[in-house]
Amino acid sequence: MENETVIGFIGAGNMAYALINGLLNNGYDSKNIKVSDPNDELLQKREEEFNITTFANNSSLVEACDIIVFAVKPQVLSEICLELREKINSKHLFISIVAGIRVNDINRWLGGNYSLVRTMPNTPALMQHGVTGLFPNELVNDEQKTLVTTILSSVGDCFWVNEEKLIDAITAISGSGPAYFFLLMQSMTQAGMALGLDEKTAKELSVQTAFGASLMATKSGKDPRTLRTNVTSPNGTTQAAIECFQDQNFEGIVASATRAAFDRARELSTELGDVELKR
Ligand SMILES: NC(=O)c1ccc[n+]([C@@H]2O[C@H](COP(=O)([O-])OP(=O)(O)OC[C@H]3O[C@@H](n4cnc5c(N)ncnc54)[C@H](OP(=O)(O)O)[C@@H]3O)[C@@H](O)[C@H]2O)c1
Repeated sequence: MENETVIGFIGAGNMAYALINGLLNNGYDSKNIKVSDPNDELLQKREEEFNITTFANNSSLVEACDIIVFAVKPQVLSEICLELREKINSKHLFISIVAGIRVNDINRWLGGNYSLVRTMPNTPALMQHGVTGLFPNELVNDEQKTLVTTILSSVGDCFWVNEEKLIDAITAISGSGPAYFFLLMQSMTQAGMALGLDEKTAKELSVQTAFGASLMATKSGKDPRTLRTNVTSPNGTTQAAIECFQDQNFEGIVASATRAAFDRARELSTELGDVELKR
């Protein structure tokens, strides 16, 4: 990335931490990363951790930056946009990692039509192993897409989509997805204990198996179906378990659960975006 592009984070919380950490680990110059937040203590911490400039005021941050990353909770975004209206211009590129808020709502709150990329990262970004879905509005050009990819790929893989509703699908698969795998690990831990293992052993067996299976799925070049077939000997133990999952409609349960997440993502976008500014 053009190391001279100045990136400003509004919100210095967990996701800003992950992204700043990722950028610095990838060689980005700390003098071109800035952050604002109302919490002085947190700002001081970020300054000490990363040697970056911090601002107590979002408007001052915006004046010093080319790219603005919204890294705040959804409920405060409309007020922040309103506060920035007088300070922004068409040269700014906006990136939102805020869950659920659509690009048109953000631009309505900003009071113009600005280049804006809506993203949906997931929690493993905190470990630099996330996946992020990205949707650009019509003003975002290829050069800007490359810049945004470089920023978000500092915490994992990036997938661009050309329809905003696919961000809701991404929310249902990878955004909420870590919790599905945690639920499976939790259930396997309980099942292991029911079979006589102590809790610590059952948990480590479950978690390490998830880690190992994920490594195989990412590194072997084989798709999950092939990997599953390869470890399922006819009439063996794995086949007995898989048949039990299938008899109880495992695939149907996963389809219904992800559909429920998708529907809820759409509802939330409508609820969260339906804020009319008072000033
Ligand atoms: N964590 C994830 O894995 C994940 C995944 C996907 C998407 N996201 C999205 O990423 C966004 C940030 O999440 P997060 O986990 O980083 O949240 P977070 O840790 O709560 O960080 C948000 C920060 O913004 C600050 N803030 C509040 N009002 C502000 C204002 N007016 N101006 C500037 N900063 C302000 C907060 O301060 P106070 O705490 O003092 O209010 C807090 O330090 C959320 O919208 C979330 O939906 C997160």
